[in-house]
Amino acid sequence: MTVEGVKESVTASAPGKIIIIGEHFVVYGSYAIAAAITKRARVTVSGTSGKETLIFSNDMKSKLSEHSGRFSAVKEVVRALYEKYGPPENGIRIDIQSDIPLGSGLGSSAAISVATAGAVSRFMGHDLQHEEIATFAGRGEKSVHGNPSGIDTAASLYGGMILFSRKTGPKPIPLNRAIQLLVVYSGVPRSTSKLISRVGETKSKFPSTFEHLADASSFASLQLVDAFSNGDLPYVGALMNFSQATLSWIGVSTNNLDALVENVLHSAFCYGAKLTGAGGGGSIIALPMPEKAVALLQKISKRYKVAFLVSIPQQGLSLEFGVR
Ligand code: PMV
Repeated sequence: MTVEGVKESVTASAPGKIIIIGEHFVVYGSYAIAAAITKRARVTVSGTSGKETLIFSNDMKSKLSEHSGRFSAVKEVVRALYEKYGPPENGIRIDIQSDIPLGSGLGSSAAISVATAGAVSRFMGHDLQHEEIATFAGRGEKSVHGNPSGIDTAASLYGGMILFSRKTGPKPIPLNRAIQLLVVYSGVPRSTSKLISRVGETKSKFPSTFEHLADASSFASLQLVDAFSNGDLPYVGALMNFSQATLSWIGVSTNNLDALVENVLHSAFCYGAKLTGAGGGGSIIALPMPEKAVALLQKISKRYKVAFLVSIPQQGLSLEFGVR
């Protein structure tokens, strides 16, 4: 759909995400659960007097025409939009700002891709459906991850908590009480595409065990939907602990992440803990007992610099219009 009267500037924001259960197995068709978090990426698009498409973030800058690794996901999203709708006649400027820590497994690249697809398409005068935005944002994710399942993009685009599989796409999970999770960044950045290949190797070496674990991961994801709906937090925690064990078996946990998970579990303030996202570094999540959440955060913050509590915002992609 085309929108009359292109705005002076369009800002789109989209949340980061955590994967609560089922990462990696989701790439091979299993169910998984992801949720948006209260940290967001913002992308503002405005017109320029030139002809180029320019991209800025903090002190970095690049032109769309430059084939450097810088902003590769953003460029891929913009190229996909220009291929479909034709490039704009005048120059545009894309400003990116994010409070999602980069390389931390919290979906910063998906949030930036979603916000870019939302802001650039609307600036060009197109009011896209969420499914179309997911396709353009997915192009950005593919350029970074190789073979993404689409769960990161879906969690950021739709917000809230979702049950996801490649076959069914995202299905919202209604939450009848507020949930708070603790996120702790291990301080070790990682590459999702390398970890996806490592899991591919484990799968080729042990195909039948892998298949059973993938089925178990799907089953645990469906159980977790019921556990959340029934408010059965101890069972949610037990399923998260099960997930950590399977992720460790397929080779994506590390000594560092195992120690961090143990550390949180030993505090006795939480029901379960696991790595979140690709693993190999990045972050862990823990489900604290609601009344002990702040005490758990205080305890963990003494040893880990980047630790915070997140709730699950319902707002996914959001658009604002302005005059620059
Ligand atoms: O690197 P992350 O946190 O965005 O991990 C993505 C989740 C995986 O299951 C490992 C990959 C995917 O696309 O589903």
